Amino acid sequence: MTDRLILGIESSCDETGAGIVRLGADGGMELLADEVASSVEQHARFGGVVPEVASRAHLEAMVPSMRRALEKADVDLAQIDAIAVTAGPGLAGALLVGVSAAKAYAAALNKPLYGVNHLAGHVAADTLQHGPLPERCLALLVSGGHSQLLLVEGLASSITEIGSTVDDAAGEAYDKVARLLDLPYPGGPPIDRLAKQGNGCAIAFPRGLTGPRDAKYDFSFSGLKTSVARWVERREAAGEEVPLADVAASFQEAVADVLTAKAIRACRDLDVDTLVISGGVAANSRLSGLAAERCADAGITLRVPSPRLCTDNGAMIAAIGAHLVAAGAQPSGLSLSTNPGLPV
Ligand code: KG4
Ligand code: ZN
Repeated sequence: MTDRLILGIESSCDETGAGIVRLGADGGMELLADEVASSVEQHARFGGVVPEVASRAHLEAMVPSMRRALEKADVDLAQIDAIAVTAGPGLAGALLVGVSAAKAYAAALNKPLYGVNHLAGHVAADTLQHGPLPERCLALLVSGGHSQLLLVEGLASSITEIGSTVDDAAGEAYDKVARLLDLPYPGGPPIDRLAKQGNGCAIAFPRGLTGPRDAKYDFSFSGLKTSVARWVERREAAGEEVPLADVAASFQEAVADVLTAKAIRACRDLDVDTLVISGGVAANSRLSGLAAERCADAGITLRVPSPRLCTDNGAMIAAIGAHLVAAGAQPSGLSLSTNPGLPV
């Protein structure tokens, strides 16, 4: 078997991604191109992603992103051997744009089409940077749309959700807290920066679902967000200054504490020695710092891909596509549909 070129198309939220991965005869993977066009600035003034705006932006950005990826990889469209596309989960209209484009390319080229799971793609992204995963590992997936703990026993065959958020996603909590602190959207980066000047122990914000009777691996961030809002309101009502950096740092500490504590507990309980953290919130400096400390103490190998691979992109979709091709999985065919609520 010779090398194969896998094209990955991503359009589940506000990033239009086209990535190309070379799958070697030995199963090795090389990232050749990863082109992302984001519509985040168009959503900023609304404080969150507007589905109609996202769909339209995908339609405009899809073909130019594809062309740039092919150019960057220095390959012709005709050389592509298989096409992978996000079939879900995600925004319904946004998914339709990517899947329609992928079908058109697959039909024109007469090449197999793989509808893939966006969440599996986030985990697969790490293999582009750090190589194959061990037989069993745990993945903590934290972004604006998802907060999940996944037991991965084969990227192409067995990914099981063992925990998830019961309300807001971790990134969503960052975005909402940023809004109430008058910081720009998306809120993760400005809170991360501001928190560096504050004290994470200044305010004891609640750690959701950490009581003895609570679900061991589930998360809840909505109470934390409300608690930050109430704390700020009380200060303002008393005419006192709000120590913004301390609020940001203490909120961030609460998020990082719960995420890392639950992930490490799951690793211990399930006898897993590798933890992968991915998704936009994995770019958070306190989360990766605290995870590194706690994993080192627990003898767990921590893998966090670079921020560019953590946020939504086409390379991660090409990567999971390449894992499916390598495993000899059945292609989806041109009748592929989208599923906005696709479970992992
Ligand atoms: O993975 P992603 O790009 O898109 C989704 O699938 O949602 O994640 C975006 C989320 C946003 O909520 C953003 O505020 C958050 O990731 N984020 C961060 C940081 N950078 C991005 N959260 C905390 N700290 C950061 N440095
Ligand atoms: Zn995502």
